[in-house]
Amino acid sequence: MPAFGNEFETPALPYTDAVKAKTDHLYARVAKFIPEFEWRLHAPYIAAINDLKKEKNAVILAHNYMTPEIFNCVGDFAGDSLQLAKEAAKTDADIIVQAGVHFMAETSKILCPDKTVLIPDPKAGCSLASSITGADVRLLKQKYPGAPVVTYVNTTADVKAETDICCTSSNAVEVVEHAAKEFNSDTVILIPDQYLAKNVAAMTDVKIVTWAGSCEVHERFTADDIRELRAGNPGVIVLAHPECPPDVLAEADFAGSTSGMSNFVREKQPDNVVLITECSMSDNVAVENPDVNFVRPCNLCPHMKRISLPKILASLQTLEHKVEIDPDVIERARKPIDRMLALPLTRQSMYDHRRAPEVAAVETRG
Ligand code: 13P
Ligand code: SF4
Repeated sequence: MPAFGNEFETPALPYTDAVKAKTDHLYARVAKFIPEFEWRLHAPYIAAINDLKKEKNAVILAHNYMTPEIFNCVGDFAGDSLQLAKEAAKTDADIIVQAGVHFMAETSKILCPDKTVLIPDPKAGCSLASSITGADVRLLKQKYPGAPVVTYVNTTADVKAETDICCTSSNAVEVVEHAAKEFNSDTVILIPDQYLAKNVAAMTDVKIVTWAGSCEVHERFTADDIRELRAGNPGVIVLAHPECPPDVLAEADFAGSTSGMSNFVREKQPDNVVLITECSMSDNVAVENPDVNFVRPCNLCPHMKRISLPKILASLQTLEHKVEIDPDVIERARKPIDRMLALPLTRQSMYDHRRAPEVAAVETRG
């Protein structure tokens, strides 16, 4: 068996002439990132998954943090959390396989309760989603009566069910301002990411109450890391995700959602760029931008990395692991997602630090 950690848990499928014929055009996309000996292990899974998708009328929604062989070779739709939610809402497939983490699969199930939604590894969690419960949100609402609750999509269905409107990092500033206006409140509860909340607070006059949650991947970057990167790579353009702490964003040239970063590289074509985010992002953006050089410090998201080709294939074969949510929770959790999707947002949220990223309070349990 190849030394692939626990990714290929069953004996590898054979690389045959038929597999080669079905996958050569896909290898052309990723050949720069995947050596041929490794491709011969991936290709049989890619061929089998793509055949099974057609047979079962299934689609795969692939987050920007998926590894290149998933993102480029089996994903039908790729993007950030907001784009994947939009695709889930409009697909006419019978089965959705979420190549991402569990909260994303829950979002798809909430939007498509009659479809089969599969998560190839149910343990693919998220430190933000696990930081807060529906009961925590009920207590926050008691403490700040009248303040609307804006919840980052990186949360469980139970938390969404207690929410007025959802947001993602690509629309958080606009959603917060909209919620303050609609609820006629100078304060908005924006949970559970304290760093996203602080980064939003730097962009708005709305008072923000937040929660002490954080992303275990982005919180590890420091302002010193960015200064060292610039010293070692003169002229490099630094793009950061708004889940990073504010002092990291203050050192960056641009901050935006995963798709915001991707669009920046496509439009500006910098000579040398660094994406301060999860590792697979650079590989996936590089496929589309062959003339851009990527400096690659990164942190792995262990949850995203639980999703692999063998697990996607097994999921399609066995229809495991189905995402199931109580119908009453689905009904309540759907409203804040629908409200977000219905907003006429015409641009991506921008983040910078012309003002201090001060929030009114960072709440914790108990
Ligand atoms: P995006 O909405 O930017 O894709 O972020 C999701 C996520 O989990 C980032 O860590
Ligand atoms: Fe959650 Fe962070 Fe992983 Fe995104 S990168 S899924 S926010 S732990």
